[in-house]
Amino acid sequence: MDQTSYRRVMALWPTGVSVVTGIGPAQNPLGMVIGSFCSVSLAPPLIAFFVKKGSTTWEEIRAGSAQFCVNILSRDQVELCSVFSTGDPNRRFDSVDYDRPCDGPPQIAKCCAWIEATTETEQELGDHLMILGRVSAMRTGPNSLPLAFAHGRLCKVDPLAQIREDHFLEWEKSLNAVLLA
Ligand SMILES: Cc1cc2nc3c(=O)[nH]c(=O)nc-3n(C[C@H](O)[C@H](O)[C@H](O)COP(=O)(O)O)c2cc1C
Repeated sequence: MDQTSYRRVMALWPTGVSVVTGIGPAQNPLGMVIGSFCSVSLAPPLIAFFVKKGSTTWEEIRAGSAQFCVNILSRDQVELCSVFSTGDPNRRFDSVDYDRPCDGPPQIAKCCAWIEATTETEQELGDHLMILGRVSAMRTGPNSLPLAFAHGRLCKVDPLAQIREDHFLEWEKSLNAVLLA
């Protein structure tokens, strides 16, 4: 299995876009975009996400506290996706509005929802770590339409939206070219 085919096929599975935030050892706000977030269990309430081994941001969050917050981005927060997936991890909050209720992990303004959790376990799985967290609090925001990621692109979730036919046909052609190569 070559990595290009693996990536192209997995890109057919759409995900939401979240920013996992926490506070570093120097009380510095930190955050990184995570698409692999999922709900694991209702009772007890457990969530998980997968983070690349050696992630500077996650190592700093872990060193600061076991608490983290999953900020579910709304479709109006496209620009935050590049802010929280590139550049210096310690400058990402420089021009982002956020709140820290009870001095906990940062909650980015205007998200769809905020899910606060405490790390229960971390498990090494291939080149990623699985972070399993127990939910301690949840709150919903002003915008309930989330941002999504599919076909290697950010998409605005809209109940009436349809994928543009030409994009879909182009995608299918290039995917087949990779798979048949
Ligand atoms: C849409 C999208 C989804 C992403 N999902 C993940 C993910 O689930 N796990 C991960 O480790 N990185 C993911 N990333 C990449 C990280 O956000 C990026 O590598 C990280 O912010 C880099 O910071 P660091 O160098 O401090 O680790 C994603 C990026 C984007 C744009």
